[in-house]
Order: sequence, then C-alpha cells, then structure tokens
Amino acid sequence: MRDGNGRKIDYIRISVTDRCNLRCRYCMPEEGIDLMRHEDILTYQEILKIAETGARLGIRRVKVTGGEPLVRKGVSQLIRELNAIEGMEDVTLTTNGLLLGDMAPELAEAGLSSVNVSLDTLDPERFSQITRRDRFADVMKGIESAVRSGLKVKINCAVMEHLSREDVLAFAEYSVKSGIPVRFIEMMPIGQGRKYHAMDNEELLKILSEEYGDLRESTEPRGNGPAVYYTYASGAGCIGLISAVHHKFCGSCNRVRLTSDGFLKLCLDSPAGVDLRTPLRSGVSDEELRGLMEQWIRVKPESHHFLSPEGREGELPLSDGTTEKCLNMNQIGG
Ligand code: GTP
Ligand code: 5AD
Ligand code: SF4
Repeated sequence: MRDGNGRKIDYIRISVTDRCNLRCRYCMPEEGIDLMRHEDILTYQEILKIAETGARLGIRRVKVTGGEPLVRKGVSQLIRELNAIEGMEDVTLTTNGLLLGDMAPELAEAGLSSVNVSLDTLDPERFSQITRRDRFADVMKGIESAVRSGLKVKINCAVMEHLSREDVLAFAEYSVKSGIPVRFIEMMPIGQGRKYHAMDNEELLKILSEEYGDLRESTEPRGNGPAVYYTYASGAGCIGLISAVHHKFCGSCNRVRLTSDGFLKLCLDSPAGVDLRTPLRSGVSDEELRGLMEQWIRVKPESHHFLSPEGREGELPLSDGTTEKCLNMNQIGG
C-alpha cells in the first residue's frame, strides 16, 4: 500500500524481544533496562496474524530483530511460518551473532535468506569495551557458521565518533578477504545513542578512497534497506553506508516497525503509531485489524528530525490520545 506521502510500504521490521545477551554502550545501560513483562510480549501467533494482515496490505519483506532475536525460543519456527505467508517474498534477520554458530544451519533451513551481523570493531579488546562482554570469538564463529550454511551475510558497524582510521581500514581489508559487505551506520540520536555524535559517513569514504582509489557506487541489490553500496576499483570488497543522519533517506522509506509488545511504530524517530496488542487480545476481526493497520500506515510521518535543534516537532498522537515516550533501540529493533 501507499502511505499519505505516496511512499510504497512493503517492508516490516518485527522486534521479537527487547532482551539481549550484550550490553552495547550505545544501546543499553550496564544494568540493563526495565524489561517488558512476558505477558506483554506478543506470542508468535499474534506476530503471525499481524504479518499476514500486513501481507494483505502489500507487505512483502520482513526483518526479524530484537533486542537480540536469537535469544527468544523458537525463532527459527517463526521464520519458517513468516516465510510461508502468502505474498511474503523475503525474511531476513539482524543479530549480534553470539548464538549464530549453533543456530545458522536451522535458520537457513527455515528459509531465512540473509543475516546482518552487528560488529562494531575487529579488535577483540575494543569489542569488550563497546559491548561490555568478552564474546568477540563467538561472533566470528557465528559469521563463519552463517556463511557455511549458505546464508547471505553482511556486517553492520555502528559508527561512534572515535572510530579510528585503523578500524575503518581493518574492516575494508576484512571485506576484501572474506567477500562480506561491511556497512557503516551513522549513530542515530535514539535512546543511549544520544550520548554519541554521528560522524558523517563522507569522512569514511574519504579514508577509504585514499587507500583503495575511487570507490564505485554499486547497484547490485544486497538488501531491502537504506544502505548505499560501493565496490573498490580492484573489484574485491564491498562497503555500505547507512547515512541516516546526514543524508536522510526518508523520501524513499518503505517500512514500518512492530515492537515486541505489539506497537505498530510508523517511524524510527517518531512516537506515532498504534497499539495492536489490545485489539488482538479483545477479539478484533481480520477486517478490523486490516482497517486499523491501513489507517495508521497512511499517516506515517514524512521524515525524521535527528538534526533539528528542537528534536521532534512535537509529539504525535497515538490512537488512545496519549503520546509514547522515547524508546531505546533494543525495544525498537533498529
Ligand atoms: P537489509 O538492507 O535488508 O540488509 O536491511 P537493513 O539495512 O534495513 O537492516 P538492519 O537491521 O541491518 O539495519 C541497519 C541499520 O539501518 C540499523 O541501524 C537501522 O536502525 C538502520 N535503519 C534501518 N531502517 C531504517 C530506517 O527506515 N530509517 C533509519 N533512519 N534507519 C534505518
Ligand atoms: N544508531 C545507529 N545504529 C544503531 N544500532 C543500534 N543502535 C543504533 C543507533 N543509535 C544498530 C545496531 C544493529 C542495528 C539493528 O542497529 O548496531 O546493527
Ligand atoms: Fe523512514 Fe523514519 Fe527512518 Fe526516515 S527516519 S527512513 S521516515 S523510519
């Protein structure tokens, strides 16, 4: 379907849990956060009902996220069932990779097409500083297992202001050797991410071209998201840039989000949306659910306001007349 700004909405990001087995500084405080109660989390049946209704409205792609999605039991089965929904063309996953070593084969078998692994440095010590856990080796095992299982793999590196030239070049070299695209993501001022500054991705591009010569923008499709990809003049290696802050891509936004407690969130940087859990649990009909989703997707906000000094231009209304407060990234799923 099209939203009120004429954008085709065909992608939903579904967060299946707000829990995580890491504590990345830009995402969660050390002590963790108040987690959602188990009974507030949507069951897989409820998630599937929303995804099926989405498919009837033209949703064709699903991203499963968290928190860390692989900590929720039975997620491979959910992926299998999402894949089986009529009209659904692509089911993908974004994970921190810790559990991928064991789970990649069953995920591939369930029909997952690709996996994005969050990895912000190739230095094990820095990894422990950023994530507050000493689990670098598990992520690397996870990546290897995913590749062996035939999954398409990409790496997500969220860029904090002090990403060094060495870090950038280490990832660039890793991409050449492994053939795995590495995407640099500008830190967005959401939740804990507000403590950091977004470094403009243009600077990264400059560092890379100094070392590798001109990078060529690549049109080969590598995902359903907003990344712009570049290949090196030499042919090997692929870098992606997700420049959400400095080069906003809201005009071509194709997505909505579902939080693990059933809130249909219309934009990463806006509280606008609607609680779907309450109607689902009060016996809403299929047609009513479809109508509700359609009505809210239509009023999806036009763009984010990350660089506006005032932040958001006022809180947008929710269906019950209240406004939702800022969520952390582990609740939104990126
Ligand atoms: P593929 O392209 O299919 O691999 O997925 P993706 O890049 O959309 O998904 P992923 O979960 O790997 O997200 C990568 C980064 O992009 C995360 O930091 C997300 O928060 C960010 N991102 C994804 N979608 C949006 C969006 O609509 N708006 C903004 N501002 N950021 C987004
Ligand atoms: N800004 C940009 N990216 C972020 N991520 C988490 N928090 C932020 C933020 N504030 C990234 C994670 C993961 C993806 C889902 O979102 O590193 O790769
Ligand atoms: Fe879409 Fe909102 Fe992201 Fe912009 S900030 S690309 S409108 S989700």
